[in-house]
Amino acid sequence: MGVDNMIRKKRTFAVKAILVACVAISTVVAEEKNVEDNNEMVSAHQIRNPEIIRIAKELLATPDTEVEGVARPNPHPDAQWFPKAGLGLFMHWGIHSVVGAQPSWSMIKNYRHAGSVKLHPPEKYFSLAEQFNPTNWNPEKWLGTAKEAGFTYAVLTTKHHDGYALWPSKFGNFSTRQYLEGRDLVKPYVNACRKHGLKVGFYFSPRDWHYPNFPIYDVDFDFKKRGQYKRVDPKINRKRFEEFFTFTIGQLHELLTQYRQIDVLWFDGMGWHGIDDMHTKAVYKWIRSLQPGIVINDRWSKVRNPDEANVEQSFGDFSTVECRTAKERPKGWWETCNIWDMGGGWGYDKGERIRSLEWTLEHLIRCRQWGGNYLPNVGPRSDGEMTSGFYSRCKELAEWMAKHRDSVIGTTAPMNDDVATVPVTCRPGVWYLHIRPGDRREKEITVNAKWPIRKAYIMRTGAEVKYAMEGATYTFESPSGSLREVIVIEFAANTTEQSPSGDRLKAPPEE
Ligand code: GLC
Repeated sequence: MGVDNMIRKKRTFAVKAILVACVAISTVVAEEKNVEDNNEMVSAHQIRNPEIIRIAKELLATPDTEVEGVARPNPHPDAQWFPKAGLGLFMHWGIHSVVGAQPSWSMIKNYRHAGSVKLHPPEKYFSLAEQFNPTNWNPEKWLGTAKEAGFTYAVLTTKHHDGYALWPSKFGNFSTRQYLEGRDLVKPYVNACRKHGLKVGFYFSPRDWHYPNFPIYDVDFDFKKRGQYKRVDPKINRKRFEEFFTFTIGQLHELLTQYRQIDVLWFDGMGWHGIDDMHTKAVYKWIRSLQPGIVINDRWSKVRNPDEANVEQSFGDFSTVECRTAKERPKGWWETCNIWDMGGGWGYDKGERIRSLEWTLEHLIRCRQWGGNYLPNVGPRSDGEMTSGFYSRCKELAEWMAKHRDSVIGTTAPMNDDVATVPVTCRPGVWYLHIRPGDRREKEITVNAKWPIRKAYIMRTGAEVKYAMEGATYTFESPSGSLREVIVIEFAANTTEQSPSGDRLKAPPEE
């Protein structure tokens, strides 16, 4: 290489280096400017409450690896209703209900599950807050209907990923405080649950896409740019996260202290790009200090396994299977949530059609045979009234429950999956055989149990059912007709006992 050439190369390199440096400086300057631009917005979210600041600081100073003694599921006596609850009502309600849009996801461009109503850019979505005005908000009416239909707990979206809080939060600038003259929509819901004896559940999304600088993984709210995070100086990122964390703790503090006893907290995804520890265990411990008997799902955030830093584990009192049937019996306390509406979205759908009774019972029983709860979701209208489909399906469900409630609510799962050729649920000394209309083709139902049967009958009519016995196998003739029937078997022995993993079948002592 000639000298000239070398000099030219060096010069080019120097020019390139200067250019790179300029770009880096301008990015930092732009970032600083960005921070300044957002200052006004941020200041609305900045927490000045010394008590909240103290709590958040303490939580932030406690890494997951240092927290012990958060027993799961919650051993408190007030939490023990959960595995026998059976059926819960999930409700996605908020500013999205105004136009029947998919909650929050409809603001994401190019997203497959954004629903048919598109609300990108997000300003379009957020402006729905101006139209949301529930003049018919009467949860007492429809929670009464739910109670009759067999529901034993309810879970309402107090805040979805869109960040709109259904109560007049003192924190942030996107709640009924700014848009509905401080009206509290959560309180009537809580009161209605209590009035009808339903356990009170709050869905709360820690991720908040309205929050300034929230690092949403779809950059510019565009699914095509998923995961392409903007570069942020780690120090600035850390500061922003801590402010956001404090804001979230502030909102949670309101939810956990202003409504007396709350039974379920249903989180949906904490996370902040570039930050690993979400202080999950410390947060759960703090929540229990405010609500000792609460049951919390495992979606605040995963915790890292201290022995294998790259392995993350779910942490919570119960887990939620979403929109699918569990392939095998989940461990611990669990539920399945699912979209009940035929429209296929989580929020209000103008069609107002709810999936059939048979569909509902099939899913409920599949959960119950393994000791899980079923949580179908419905989207109320934006004015606060429930959909017509909800009322008609609940009426049918109530008719079925009037005869069969005891076979699905308050029951436990059999110890093994192979006790019968149809799903089984249990109570002390009693088994319930759940017969789908389709099962009748097989005509015979076999049950493996070593205890003598005292009585077997159709739950709906009380009519006795005949059976044959060979060894430990009983064979029943399948009831005819197109209805979903339940055969009740009363054993001449007490077949269940309490054990730490729930009451499960146990053979009586051998003679
Ligand atoms: C998913 C969806 C969210 C919905 C939740 C309910 O996390 O993203 O929109 O609220 O499921 O289970």
